[in-house]
Amino acid sequence: MSQRAPYQPSLLRLLHGAMVLLVPLASLSGAAVFSNHDGRWWRLPFQLPGDWIDIHGTVGVILWPLALLFAAYALSFGRARLARAANAAALMGLLLAVVSGKLMEEDWLREGQFDQPIYHLHLVAWILVTGAVLWHIVAVLSRGGLLLARSMFRLETRDNDRPWLFIRR
Ligand code: HEM
Ligand code: HEM
Repeated sequence: MSQRAPYQPSLLRLLHGAMVLLVPLASLSGAAVFSNHDGRWWRLPFQLPGDWIDIHGTVGVILWPLALLFAAYALSFGRARLARAANAAALMGLLLAVVSGKLMEEDWLREGQFDQPIYHLHLVAWILVTGAVLWHIVAVLSRGGLLLARSMFRLETRDNDRPWLFIRR
């Protein structure tokens, strides 16, 4: 079977690229917060140095507006791709994480308030996004291999495809 790399729209590559950078950072910095402050199921054998609530909050502040733009793209121009269950699951997990994150109070964990319903929701979202993104990556690789996976990270764009041109569509 001869294969050509699929072409991904520039605006999708831009916003998706931001998710690929920021979602793992949010997940890992969140794991650091969990280990340092909560640790009910699992914790590192030592306290990580640094204020991880602050670091995670900063990643979250950068992530949430971009995640909302990404969701707006996925639900409009990218709608057809959401028919794939793993894509839809990744998006739903992401939205739940971002919305529950916005509702989190910075001091809950510092004050030992581990039973706030919003915090529980944020933890569920953490597990959902992480699981859904792993599923999504396996699904992409099994459907189109590295050729498909890499197509999302290519930098060249067609002349008639610029991120800002989507505004006029
Ligand atoms: C992929 C997983 C995660 C994502 C995408 C995520 C995302 C976010 C976002 C967007 C915010 C709001 C930031 C703001 O605008 O102030 C936030 C806040 C917060 N998250 Fe997460 N989070 C994740 C995992 C976790 C985990 C595992 C924990 C710890 C158990 C955690 C603890 C917190 C705390 C304490 C805040 C409040 C921080 C503040 O307001 O400064 N998050 N998160
Ligand atoms: C290295 C990691 C990743 C790779 C290789 C990858 C690859 C891809 C590819 C190739 C597509 C197009 C899929 C298709 O045609 O069905 C896609 C779409 C998508 N990806 Fe990822 N992805 C990664 C990480 C992520 C992350 C972290 C998120 C965030 C939660 C995410 C969310 C999505 C969503 C929601 C779509 C559908 C977009 C639309 O509706 O237009 N992906 N990804």
